[in-house]
Amino acid sequence: MSHEKVETNAGLLAIFIIIVISIGGLVEIVPLFFLKDTTEPVAGLKPYTALQLEGRDVYIREGCYVCHSQMIRPFRAETERYGHYSVAGEFVYDHPFQWGSKRTGPDLARVGGRYSDEWHRVHLMNPRDVVPESNMPGFPWLAENTIDASLTPRKMEVLRTLGVPYTDADIAGASAAVAGKTEMDALIAYLQSLGTALGGRR
Ligand code: HEC
Repeated sequence: MSHEKVETNAGLLAIFIIIVISIGGLVEIVPLFFLKDTTEPVAGLKPYTALQLEGRDVYIREGCYVCHSQMIRPFRAETERYGHYSVAGEFVYDHPFQWGSKRTGPDLARVGGRYSDEWHRVHLMNPRDVVPESNMPGFPWLAENTIDASLTPRKMEVLRTLGVPYTDADIAGASAAVAGKTEMDALIAYLQSLGTALGGRR
């Protein structure tokens, strides 16, 4: 009888559905706030330097994540190719994370140290100069644009409010650290930092 009441009253049904979904959601989400291994950085993880941080902003602006993931899944085929699978503690300083969901190109979660800076420079100018069959676009303008050093300290201050442990000295020195650098320099510094805290190079 009471079941029929719920099934024939759309409003009541909607309310009960919302209650049930909320409980399900809370049960899944709330424990994550208390799990150490999703909130603790892995040993050796450092916040991005001022230059790496600017490079990360270039990475986001240019939409690199549209073709590249930064998330190695725990499967043999992935770990053989890319190295140790990704763990949550590697991304605690990433706001927002760049896991991505599309792999037109290879995963970049551990690309740091795989190539020389010079290789990246040539590759980013025109990928076909080093990988003839590549369909990645070139990004030659990055070598001409210089970083706006006046904004870097503010970006770091904002990240500090989100829990990234930048010191006052890091922030005070940020503008000087990126002054005169090109977006290319910054992007390469960022790429060379990726995945180096865990798993090491193969
Ligand atoms: C249209 C898709 C596309 C976009 C956008 C793109 N890439 Fe790529 N990328 C590829 C493909 C395909 C490859 C593999 C061929 C090659 O090495 O060029 C690749 C390879 C790479 C590699 C070498 C990875 C390895 O392990 O060999 C790096 C590093 C890289 N891309 C960085 C970037 C960065 C940084 C950006 C943004 C500025 C970017 N890519 C944008 C498609 C893309």
